Amino acid sequence: MALTPSPAPSLEPGRSLPETMRAASRRVYGSADEIEISVIARPEPGPGEVLVRVAAAALDRATLHLLEGKPYLARLALGLRRPRRTTLGQQVAGEVVALGSGVTGFAPGDAVFGTAAGSFAEFALARATTLAPRPAGISESTAASLGVSGLTAHQALVESGRVRPGQSVLVLGASGAVGTYAVQLATQLGAHVTGVCSAAKTDLVQALGARRTFDYRGTPLAQMGPGFDLIIDTAGNRPVRELRSALTPNGTLVIVGGEGGGPLLGGIERNLVAAIAGRFTSQRLGFLFSTPTTQRCTDLAQLIEAGTIEAPVDRVVGLSGLRAGIEAMQRGELRGHVIIRPTAD
Ligand SMILES: NC(=O)c1ccc[n+]([C@@H]2O[C@H](COP(=O)([O-])OP(=O)(O)OC[C@H]3O[C@@H](n4cnc5c(N)ncnc54)[C@H](OP(=O)(O)O)[C@@H]3O)[C@@H](O)[C@H]2O)c1
Repeated sequence: MALTPSPAPSLEPGRSLPETMRAASRRVYGSADEIEISVIARPEPGPGEVLVRVAAAALDRATLHLLEGKPYLARLALGLRRPRRTTLGQQVAGEVVALGSGVTGFAPGDAVFGTAAGSFAEFALARATTLAPRPAGISESTAASLGVSGLTAHQALVESGRVRPGQSVLVLGASGAVGTYAVQLATQLGAHVTGVCSAAKTDLVQALGARRTFDYRGTPLAQMGPGFDLIIDTAGNRPVRELRSALTPNGTLVIVGGEGGGPLLGGIERNLVAAIAGRFTSQRLGFLFSTPTTQRCTDLAQLIEAGTIEAPVDRVVGLSGLRAGIEAMQRGELRGHVIIRPTAD
């Protein structure tokens, strides 16, 4: 008799999984007040998907954008009137517990990190192509913030910025989720880093490796340069011409993002300005949309394991601490990452 392959996901042998889980979600766009911690059905992995038992997840600015549905342009993808996806969270570190059909390279029990939609929950689904094995030398807390924040910093420095030893690198937003990785990675790659953040966090940024720091409220960009080989811009929404004036004639600008750019476009128009201006100058001007892949996660993990990079942690909370973490981020109070451990409360 011919055996038909089972369409059911490959579950971890010997351990049954609960049918439900605790998760953070919201039904409408709005503030952190809209977040509910409730018990919902555990998702099942479909083709190409991996079910991850979440050990740790991390907050970043994208969480706030998804929560608020801003800039409004993003609602074309997220849902015009209300969010199509109700669960929250993207970055993840955890353990593989089930595989959808067609997934190779992972097995139940593997420690992994990367991105998984809805990671502020006990279980989350990831596309296998956005996960990588977590090396034993990288803590869950650090791995939890690599999928977006770490990967963005790495992609900006290495792929877009082509950073080289001895170069001078300016990181705007150096105390933030992306910036804390950018400062550490650039330092490990042999660059001389100048970090820009609020005065209260210059000590943090120096401890991460920055040789010089500036308070964005006190020092104009023109007085920090000129002469940077590479600017990684994660904050401030400064005009492209102002950023260019701080670069060497052959320097590189990589725009990652920045808050305060207007409710409709959120400052994305700077990307267009950089792309056009870059065609008429010896400077390299560009922007970045971070795209997690297994290869990128693996490359980053190797670099981190070879050095001393760790995510500075402001707090570790359970799902019930998510709202307070988001509000602290909005007030600019965080000194490092907010790590969410779904089973901590
Ligand atoms: N393109 C992509 O793929 C991608 C990926 C990830 C993130 N992003 C975007 O990148 C930006 C940063 O994300 P994040 O998660 O790192 O945010 P974050 O954790 O909130 O960090 C923001 C940082 O900006 C600093 N800052 C605020 N105003 C500034 C100014 N005028 N000049 C210089 N620094 C200033 C803050 O310093 P203090 O806290 O000291 O005040 C903080 O260090 C966000 O807009 C996010 O949406 C884009």
